[in-house]
Amino acid sequence: MYRYSLRGRGDLTEWRDAARAYLMAGIVPDVIEWRTMDDADGLFGFDDNNLPPPHEAHPPLSVPPSFIRLAGAVICHSDPTRFALLYRLLFRLMHGRHLLQMASDTDVVAAQRMAKAVGRDYHKMTAFVRFKELPLPAGTAGRRRFFSWFEPDHFILARVAPFFQRRFTDMDWLIATPKGSASWDGETLRTCDEPAEKPDLKDETEDLWRTYYASIFNPARLKVKMMTKEMPKKYWKNLPEATLIPDLIANAEASVIEMGKRAASEPLPFHHRIQEAAARAPVPSAPAAGTLSALKGEARHCTRCDIHCLATQTVFGDGPADARVMVVGEQPGDQEDLAGKPFVGPAGKLFNDTLAEAGIDRCSLYITNAVKHFKYVPRGKRRIHQKPNMGEIRQCRWWLMQELELVKPEVVVAMGATALFALTDMRQKLEDVRGEPMALADGRILFVTVHPAYLLRIPDEAQRMRELDRFRKDMNAVQRLVRARAPYRSGPPNAS
Ligand code: URA
Repeated sequence: MYRYSLRGRGDLTEWRDAARAYLMAGIVPDVIEWRTMDDADGLFGFDDNNLPPPHEAHPPLSVPPSFIRLAGAVICHSDPTRFALLYRLLFRLMHGRHLLQMASDTDVVAAQRMAKAVGRDYHKMTAFVRFKELPLPAGTAGRRRFFSWFEPDHFILARVAPFFQRRFTDMDWLIATPKGSASWDGETLRTCDEPAEKPDLKDETEDLWRTYYASIFNPARLKVKMMTKEMPKKYWKNLPEATLIPDLIANAEASVIEMGKRAASEPLPFHHRIQEAAARAPVPSAPAAGTLSALKGEARHCTRCDIHCLATQTVFGDGPADARVMVVGEQPGDQEDLAGKPFVGPAGKLFNDTLAEAGIDRCSLYITNAVKHFKYVPRGKRRIHQKPNMGEIRQCRWWLMQELELVKPEVVVAMGATALFALTDMRQKLEDVRGEPMALADGRILFVTVHPAYLLRIPDEAQRMRELDRFRKDMNAVQRLVRARAPYRSGPPNAS
């Protein structure tokens, strides 16, 4: 009898090396016992692994790519029999390369079931991880840090971690699970198999999740069976929004009748929580402490126009309180509304790339929007961006002017017509004012360019390339403007 214990949860490379040694020595599957050092069924690893002596003369093994793909998924399953199953398949493949196409073969069926379960677990994790923000120690600055607890059924963490790296690349995060952890610090993605314990953490993002969930919940499309299939109850305990579900379901019928009676332009009914909170906070007439962070705190409760009823949260400006350049966009989009930070979605990515090409460090800019809430119309599960109207832009100008007062930038970049209107009341065609620095009343320089989202929408490839090039040149011009002006401030910088 041969025995082999894999380290940790048993990863594919380790299993493959051992399996290759057994296969080359012609060892039949029935005489190998596979385990991990700490098996799911409570067994421990063997004291010694016994591998057959190496077979140098053996020709290299060739395995179909479909097996490698299947094995990559199956190895993540938590069933302790997965290693033996994979070895059986591998052994049999050596005698019949078409084994995986035999849809009724019991080993093939078992492996495909495991791979499917792993795939499901992967997708559930991408949908149900909820990050909580960990405040930075007082007096320190740095990237925002987030933590999430999740309980996957299988060992999918290393497989799914690159998804979170791509999706949340501009923040530091740690995802802990009973089957290991993954973390990202902006440079390195790390994973480990060590089981973690659930910490007791609560934060304001839980309320944001609830507001967001309520905003996309459409009682008219409610299918409870389908919903609990898509969002199985076992995940509910770690989902802040799950506490809303029973009430939303119970009231769905009444809500549909109510929706029918209401005019389409009225705010949606499910924002009562945020509206109640906002109503409790007095509308400020001047910033309380004269700092950006105080202003940001006040803006969280802004009800100056109706857009706040739809949005998940106020997306305030972001960047150093003494930035020399302030960039103004239109309004947060879908991703900004969830992240609470401006320009983190597709337009933000294009903007970041252009800044990098122009040699501008995004962290040196103060980036904000003319309007601080996301205006949209729900369409199915999607939220479709709506342009803010002039009344809304004027209401929100109150915050923009306070930001200008506090940051005191030397150069203000208006990206798009909404920003231009918010800053100057001008309704000129962008082309007429683009690229020509203008003096604002307070002596600051205004530089007008297009909005990056406009560039994303240009259907013709060649035209898009030309416009991207112009946008890059605009950013270079901004860079030159700043360099040409000696650092100058009209008053003391404000602490953020
Ligand atoms: N578009 C904007 O104008 N602002 C954002 O923050 C994102 C997209």
